Amino acid sequence: MATHLETLETPVPIVDLDRLSHNLDQMAAYATLHGLRLRPHVKTHKATRIATEQLQRGAVGLTCATTHELDVMSSVCDDLLLAYPPVGAARLERIMRLSANTRLTVAVDSADSLPALAMAAKLARRDLNVYVEVDLGMRRVGVKPAQEAVDLARAVLEQSPLRFAGIMFYPGHVRESVTEQGASIAKLSADIEELLERLADMGMSAAQVSGGSTPLAWRIHEVAGVTEVRPGTYVYNDRTTAGIGACDWVDCAFTVLATVVSTAVPGQAVIDAGTKALGREPLRSEGDGWAALLDRPEVVVTRMSEEHGVLDLRNTDWRPRVGDRVRLVPNHVCIVTHLFDEIVGVRGDYVETSWPVEARGRGVVQRERDQAPRGPRAM
Ligand SMILES: Cc1ncc(COP(=O)(O)O)c(C=O)c1O
Repeated sequence: MATHLETLETPVPIVDLDRLSHNLDQMAAYATLHGLRLRPHVKTHKATRIATEQLQRGAVGLTCATTHELDVMSSVCDDLLLAYPPVGAARLERIMRLSANTRLTVAVDSADSLPALAMAAKLARRDLNVYVEVDLGMRRVGVKPAQEAVDLARAVLEQSPLRFAGIMFYPGHVRESVTEQGASIAKLSADIEELLERLADMGMSAAQVSGGSTPLAWRIHEVAGVTEVRPGTYVYNDRTTAGIGACDWVDCAFTVLATVVSTAVPGQAVIDAGTKALGREPLRSEGDGWAALLDRPEVVVTRMSEEHGVLDLRNTDWRPRVGDRVRLVPNHVCIVTHLFDEIVGVRGDYVETSWPVEARGRGVVQRERDQAPRGPRAM
């Protein structure tokens, strides 16, 4: 017999399977329409089940941020991008342990990191594709365009077995609503065109120009030169994405199901979802609070403790009772996915399936595994 949502212990993360399919289909169709290679970022779902669905819909590969994501995703995909500086001996060791059948690309923004990277690749007897990461306004990582990027591309070419495979940027600074992104798109285009010209002047070419985020996902084809896109959040969407207009509210596929546990204090209702179920990410579009009700977006969580969330009832005539169930759309879904071991997939009000968030956390470190005592511990 099918399990009704009402019977689940809360808080529990719920994904509406119809909305998820719609989001996956829409992005795959957009990439196909504009001839863009789709390389989704897995940081949002961290699950091989959804990665597989992305690949089945035509994704050319996957983007990862952590070595654990690389480990996990290598079981379903043989073309992975580490969109994170490959710095530090332990990180390099883990990257190089990936199966030799995995085509691996890493993004770099410093010439200093190249000798260790090249040495690690040489010892592992593997070719390594390298994207030069440029900062086109995010101010997080990335060298400045155009000269610094050209210099770094040349440095990559000089470090066998590294292969200069293209340039990468993350337009996370573009947070305007979708209809107001024109100026940002023009600026990104100008910077990329200049960089590609300067590379050509030096006899180099970028096989790929990899960019993309969910807020810019539906207009990234307007950015000159882009060949590959890496949206992540679009699979589930969230309150920020809807606020920016990069999805409709009904495209929010991920909610946290919670129970009203107290209405004792007038003007509010307390639910069993606090920071350990909703995260504590500020809304990066207009509005306040930490999460909103799916059915009543005007009702938001205004205060949280670790296991308590306070719903502000001042702007609503809705009066919940203790025991009522609510579904909350988080401000930033990627953080929330990472808080749970398992996601429940529902169709309507019924549970259809569930899947593990396999790539959450950092994974078991091999060295610790090797040294773990076998059998009972001596006292
Ligand atoms: C390097 C990189 N690429 C792609 C993405 C995906 O962006 P979004 O979550 O907006 O889809 C991120 C997000 O943090 C990122 O850091």
